[in-house]
Amino acid sequence: MKTKILMVCLGNICRSPLAEGILASKLDPSKFEVASCGTSNYHIGKKPDNRSIAVAKKYGIDITQQKATQFTTSDFDRYDYIYPMDRSNLENILALARNEEDTAKVQLILESIAPNEQLEVPDPYYSSNDGFENVYKILNKACNNIKRQLQNIN
Ligand code: 4NP
Repeated sequence: MKTKILMVCLGNICRSPLAEGILASKLDPSKFEVASCGTSNYHIGKKPDNRSIAVAKKYGIDITQQKATQFTTSDFDRYDYIYPMDRSNLENILALARNEEDTAKVQLILESIAPNEQLEVPDPYYSSNDGFENVYKILNKACNNIKRQLQNIN
């Protein structure tokens, strides 16, 4: 069975679509499934923000086929690892956890770079293109570490 990973942000149009595209590009699709969603319902059904699409394309990743969805409790059953981008997303997800098994699946994505520091991927929605470049670089580093961690376990 494939290991399933879920990237989570607020709107599912800026950060988590990039995180999904980057991690999926590094993993064997016959062994891993990567998806993303938002904790809000603001942009359900929409494609990623054009600035996320552009920075992904610059690094050879196509995220144009993604469509925003909202996190639901059933995602705890479907996914093995759930990576929120910031503490607010983390709190929103944990508020829906039913038990310790659910809670154990959730970890801030930047724990993969700096354990126990509670670092956040900055929300680039109101920023310039530089903000998206910065998010891409942070997520690329995090996904390299997550890949290593997943391959050590699986
Ligand atoms: P994301 O960015 O959570 O990285 O997708 C945002 C997208 C939309 C909004 C906020 C953050 N919004 O308020 O609509």
